[in-house]
Amino acid sequence: MIKVAPSVLAADYVNLQKDIEMAEQAGAEYLHIDVMDGHFVPSISYGPDFVKAMRPVTKMVLDVHLMVQDPEHLIPNFLEAGSEIIGIQVEATKHIHRALQMIKNGGAKAEVVLNPGTPVEMIKPVLHMVDQVLVMTVNPGFGGQKFLPETVAKIKELDTIKKENGYDFDIEIDGGINNETVVPCYEAGATVAVAGSYVYGAEDPASRIQAIKDATK
Ligand code: DX5
Ligand code: ZN
Repeated sequence: MIKVAPSVLAADYVNLQKDIEMAEQAGAEYLHIDVMDGHFVPSISYGPDFVKAMRPVTKMVLDVHLMVQDPEHLIPNFLEAGSEIIGIQVEATKHIHRALQMIKNGGAKAEVVLNPGTPVEMIKPVLHMVDQVLVMTVNPGFGGQKFLPETVAKIKELDTIKKENGYDFDIEIDGGINNETVVPCYEAGATVAVAGSYVYGAEDPASRIQAIKDATK
């Protein structure tokens, strides 16, 4: 069964605590927090203070996805805020090893993220040192986009590398995930599913978290 990471980008910001508690009660393992800087992606969302505010209200793993240019500048702030996993886009830094090492040295789990147009080849040199790889299944920047099926082959490629080398990183998927699109990703080796609009856009969000789990039994 896949781990589920509801994305608060699609939650009700006026009633965030309620939406977060619902996710935890429904069995979600991670809370996915999308940080957007208006440069690496067109949108702007929230910063380290937001993560800090989430920390006392949930036991879920805080899974922070930095869609920011040159993330090195912000990593210390997100570490200090209590992030447990920090993901950085390989396209956003000139120094991927250094940035991942900063995260690990700060005591968080290090994740490398790749856009749909970025080949697995780009992250091969750092696969030995990461705790999680995020395969974007849409182009980052917005919730509610359509899943890109061509990304499934990259999940499979990563899973093969993982097995061949005895690595134990999680493979996360993000963008357009629902109870149908999650299936080929899970079969290819994905272990964590982010879901924003599918969960929070529903009348009964808890049933959507369960539907993702049921589809990957
Ligand atoms: C996209 C973000 C996603 C987003 C997913 O830029 O990285 O985490 O919240 O939203 P859905 O599940 O609606 O595609
Ligand atoms: Zn995300």
